[in-house]
Amino acid sequence: MKSAEVRKKYLEFFKKRGHAVIPSAPLLPENDPTTLFTSSGMQPLIPYLLGQPHPSGKRLVDSQKSFRSQDIEEVGDNRHTTFFEMLGNWSLGDYFKKEQLPWIFEFLTRELGLDPKRLYVTVFEGNASVPKDTESIDIWKDIFSGVGIVAKENERIFAYPARKNWWSRSGEPDTMPPGEPGGPDSEVFFDFGTPHYPQFGETCHPNCDCGRFMEIANSVFMQYQKMPDGTLKELKQKNVDFGGGLERLVAATEGKQDVFETDLFSEIIQSIQLASGLAYVNDEHKKTLRIIADHVKAAVFLIADGIEPSNKMQGYVLRRLLRRAAVKLKLMSKSSTEHQFAPIVQSVLRTYKETDYFNNTKEESIKNSVALEMFKFTKSLDQGLREIQKITSIDGKIAFDLYQTYGFPLEITEEIFREKGQRIDHQQFASEFEKHQDLSRSAAKGMFKGGLADKSEQTVKLHTAHHLLLAALQKIVDQDIKQRGSNITAERLRMDFNYAKKLMPEDVQKIEKLVNEKIFEDIPVVRQEMEREAAEKIGAQMEFGHKYPDRVSVYFIGPEKNFFSAEFCGGPHVAHTGLLGRFQIIKEESAGSGVRRIYAVLS
Ligand code: ALA
Repeated sequence: MKSAEVRKKYLEFFKKRGHAVIPSAPLLPENDPTTLFTSSGMQPLIPYLLGQPHPSGKRLVDSQKSFRSQDIEEVGDNRHTTFFEMLGNWSLGDYFKKEQLPWIFEFLTRELGLDPKRLYVTVFEGNASVPKDTESIDIWKDIFSGVGIVAKENERIFAYPARKNWWSRSGEPDTMPPGEPGGPDSEVFFDFGTPHYPQFGETCHPNCDCGRFMEIANSVFMQYQKMPDGTLKELKQKNVDFGGGLERLVAATEGKQDVFETDLFSEIIQSIQLASGLAYVNDEHKKTLRIIADHVKAAVFLIADGIEPSNKMQGYVLRRLLRRAAVKLKLMSKSSTEHQFAPIVQSVLRTYKETDYFNNTKEESIKNSVALEMFKFTKSLDQGLREIQKITSIDGKIAFDLYQTYGFPLEITEEIFREKGQRIDHQQFASEFEKHQDLSRSAAKGMFKGGLADKSEQTVKLHTAHHLLLAALQKIVDQDIKQRGSNITAERLRMDFNYAKKLMPEDVQKIEKLVNEKIFEDIPVVRQEMEREAAEKIGAQMEFGHKYPDRVSVYFIGPEKNFFSAEFCGGPHVAHTGLLGRFQIIKEESAGSGVRRIYAVLS
């Protein structure tokens, strides 16, 4: 089955069961300092899983663009990708296990036509604070008996500990930060029927790594929240958070053990073969082609969502993807030029022609971003590779010098040396990096590994100040100013906005003064749900490039008829501006052509 059909069937299936179809959120989370990328369907829905009413109701379904940088090292096998689409459905305190599990089974077997005999399921085995999920076991037994299969534990239904069958954005209960929601899950695995290899363990089972089984569906029963004292508390609503990777579901429908052989990759792989002369012949070629295909695809999606290659944060991840693809291509095909990537980019866009993911983006501008980065890099690529060949022993400092001088990401240098049997001291590399890069703090904190920071009170305050700042910029500098990016940590806020010139120092002062006046006035911050069109009409601010559902949530600062600020936003915010303290702009700088950046703090 083709990917467009699987995606459509899924959305239709849940729509028929009372779910509102919501658009995919951007890959760059707005106003969420806890993570660099949107990496699962539930991420943009956190406030609603925690109890805030969603404007589209209690049953939601979507296909969410997702990016997991922590999987970058795994790419190259038959099923890992950094970018993927997650088909998701949610119950926000509405239905629970006895609806969710039969629906998923029905979707997989009736809609996608998967053979029930090839499906195996897993549940949570329990721990000191959460009991074994016997309810799901009983439901699964009934479901399988409905299709004539006697499903026994340890034969068709398997119970695993939290490491495998507990889901939160930060893993099992012990690693969840305070405030984080999570819960036990029940996964469905597809059996490709391939032989088991004893080096993976004595017996095969769904979570075995021999490649026989592939996880295709995950129903999370999100009913707990981590407390500051380390315990788990039941949320006031029991949620379902379902996620299934589109790439894997398509592979299962086609009985292909390799997601790179589905229509979500085949054209991209072909275009790389054409551009490079590389054939898909042996395992090494296969791995290289998969890595290039994954990285270029992910890069195209990141650029389309407004990220540009740089040395900071998300831009650095994007740079690594493109440079790694360039080095791979160069090493395998002995050539690499910026022009080789244009047809590959085009093949990515063609692969998604039936979606609206690229509707807001100009094909040329994506190609130009890729070409510019490749141009910058290929200039030093040859020279860097020659240098590397000359060096006989490499430590973290030399690896950092290669990064500084030639732009070689650490893992590239390491990959090239691994062939020579060398390992690089990451600590040493990181400490060199720290010395030279101010914002590498994000990397040091583990954000490049998808780690989470705490959602503190200060972050919420800075988020509200961010709304005041945007309104003040429009009132004092130019009413056409729009936000072009945002990042908030517990220490400071950062806002990018379209404006061609440096701000005048007196304007910076006026903005600070106006924001502080609004704080002093102690204005209530009020959330309203309304029709998208009505919100657009009154001039509520939207996130750049974001598609919104028909009903939206809008935060007003000031009365609805005469507000100081109104923004499409999921929150959270403080209840009134007087809680913010003193607002101060600490830096104003360029963030690319036509874009300025402000850093501000509250004290
Ligand atoms: N949030 C769950 C996942 O990402 C469904 O697997």
